[in-house]
Amino acid sequence: MAESAAFAKGLEGVIAGETAICAVNQTQLIYRGYEIADLAEHATFEEVAFLLLVGHKPSAEELRFFKDELIANRALPGPVIDFLLTARPMLLDKSAVPMDVLRTAVSILGNLDKDSQDNSPEANLRKAKRILAKVPTIIGHMQNVIDGRDLVAHETGGDAKLSHAANLLYLMSGSRPSDQFARVVDVSLILYAEHDFNASTFTSRVIAGTLSDMHGAMTGAIAALKGPLHGGANEMAMEMLKDIMADVGEAGIGTPKVDAWMERAFAEKRKLMGFGHRVYKNGDHRAPILHALGRSLAAKDTTNPGGHAALKWFQLGEQVQKIMLDKKNIHPNVDFPCGLTYFTMGIPVPQYTPIFVASRVTGWAAHIAEQHANNRLIRPLTAYTGPALRTWKEA
Ligand code: CMC
Repeated sequence: MAESAAFAKGLEGVIAGETAICAVNQTQLIYRGYEIADLAEHATFEEVAFLLLVGHKPSAEELRFFKDELIANRALPGPVIDFLLTARPMLLDKSAVPMDVLRTAVSILGNLDKDSQDNSPEANLRKAKRILAKVPTIIGHMQNVIDGRDLVAHETGGDAKLSHAANLLYLMSGSRPSDQFARVVDVSLILYAEHDFNASTFTSRVIAGTLSDMHGAMTGAIAALKGPLHGGANEMAMEMLKDIMADVGEAGIGTPKVDAWMERAFAEKRKLMGFGHRVYKNGDHRAPILHALGRSLAAKDTTNPGGHAALKWFQLGEQVQKIMLDKKNIHPNVDFPCGLTYFTMGIPVPQYTPIFVASRVTGWAAHIAEQHANNRLIRPLTAYTGPALRTWKEA
């Protein structure tokens, strides 16, 4: 029997596996040897997706084939479209949020995939590409269903001339985004693509470790990502800023009214969404990259497509960040600028975490394949805290 190790609540500090996909430390975030700021500045999301899934930087020809494959796989099968159409009442009465509907749609994709029971590296790569191609279409069609408009490009899953990021925006709204909007979303997808043993990826590896299949592992990962302590924080961060704005009013930005709101939150021991991180204690490397991009978008055009004056939200966010740092020494994580940035672009808040999925499926798929390729069941121990031994039959 293996020796038991020390207990660490939330597995903090525990090395729970090996990976060649990603390294996270206090100063760097690295995808297969490339640092995140380098990728955000010089790569596209499709290049990063290839890097994560296949293992190396694509040649021009590999990239062309990869993009063509994604475009060819964007359209959804009929049963998934039917499901999305029937989900409208659930979405409208909020018994289901978009992450729940996306989770079910990915699960149905698995039921329809001819490779679904095959965990070989080749089948895993084929499935990963299909899921990657289809998630933006699910999100787009779902938003069309919520808005009561005809599905955009349901026969093709979009416009073949558009990138993964631009096509996602097009499918959601029916309008082709500006190059600047498309690039900002593209960078957000690069930043979101992979993050070693975060909760959703760990979930996917636990499921894959039983030799279960990729769609099942991704379905579980989507459920894990939904939570506000993980990916759901990008939506919750924006909801929190809306609460503050409702309380202090526009004229309250930059005044002690915001400090007072924060003091109340501290007194109530509330977790402020979009702040803190299990690993990064001196700041999340991704946050300043996205903050700068989002802010420049807001500063350039202070009226976003939703009709909100965008810059004031960044100014409020910056004040909140400063108070968190001064009073608690806690930095924003990537979800904080993400909320502000997507809000600036007029993207509906309940789709922020689904858009995270449109990117993180690459990281999940890489980890699921890595687990399958060198598997050992993931089965830790617990420290028992229940009653002492007793007998069922009373004495
Ligand atoms: N607001 C207020 N206090 C906080 C926060 C926060 N967001 N984050 C940490 N703290 C405090 C916490 O109360 C604790 O204080 P004390 O020692 O006085 O009890 C201290 O900092 C250490 O925090 P912890 O809860 O032990 O940290 P953790 O590693 O267990 O949790 C976390 C990490 C990300 C779940 C947490 O920081 C949090 O709940 N943040 C808000 C949700 C969030 O933004 N999640 C996104 C995470 S990163 C990107 C992603 O996955 O999408």
